[in-house]
Amino acid sequence: FFNNDSALDLKGKKVVITAGPTYEPIDPVRFIGNHSTGKMGFDIANEAAKRGADVVLITGPTSLKTANDSIQVVKVLSAKEMYQACHEVFPSADIVIGAAAVADYRPKVVADQKIKKNDEEFTIVLEKNPDILASLGAIKTNQFLVGFALETENEVEYAKSKLKKKNLDLIVLNSLNDQGAGFGKPTNKVTFIDKDFSIYPQELKSKEAVAKDIIDQIVKSYVE
Ligand code: CTP
Ligand code: CA
Repeated sequence: FFNNDSALDLKGKKVVITAGPTYEPIDPVRFIGNHSTGKMGFDIANEAAKRGADVVLITGPTSLKTANDSIQVVKVLSAKEMYQACHEVFPSADIVIGAAAVADYRPKVVADQKIKKNDEEFTIVLEKNPDILASLGAIKTNQFLVGFALETENEVEYAKSKLKKKNLDLIVLNSLNDQGAGFGKPTNKVTFIDKDFSIYPQELKSKEAVAKDIIDQIVKSYVE
């Protein structure tokens, strides 16, 4: 039969996607997190599965459910856990898409017990988390590596430098400047920048439609 939607152009490919926020523990009852809902990553996972990929979704805390039972979901909390899960699966991956909003820093010391309130001021010292995508970019063999970039100024320049620094094959620049795009919104306005620094601005679209565009772009530059 003929049905373009069921084009299985990712059949036989293992696609690993990170999604959601990370939670960085402060003590047994508190953490540092962010407003990522995970929707962009889940939409990409659903789209890749629909197109025949073998999908592993490594996700931080979210209330979302995948739409396809074939997707292997790995639940993590912190950036450190996400890093470990990514490195475990990376050698067998063909395509890795980093859609997670990974915390850049974590509390340097995690208290064993709930911290009691005391002084008027309270300071938490943070230390840098490992950059998951950069660490994969440094060891990649044939994997096609896709990152996101969230910028509020010098968008294209910063995105290009992330692409280079992390040894990515494609970067999806997320424009927060546009109304209706980003965290907690159902829509995104993105620009693709490939390895050759060719720039492909996209329209403001639903995250489902953006997910389809991302997979199309990957198929165009990697699979075909
Ligand atoms: N990322 C990652 N590991 C981190 C931080 C970010 O893998 N510790 C990934 C994100 O999933 C995203 C890309 O790197 O795909 C870019 O994230 P972003 O926050 O825009 O950039 P950073 O490199 O963290 O730089 P900055 O926040 O300073 O702009
Ligand atoms: Ca960051």
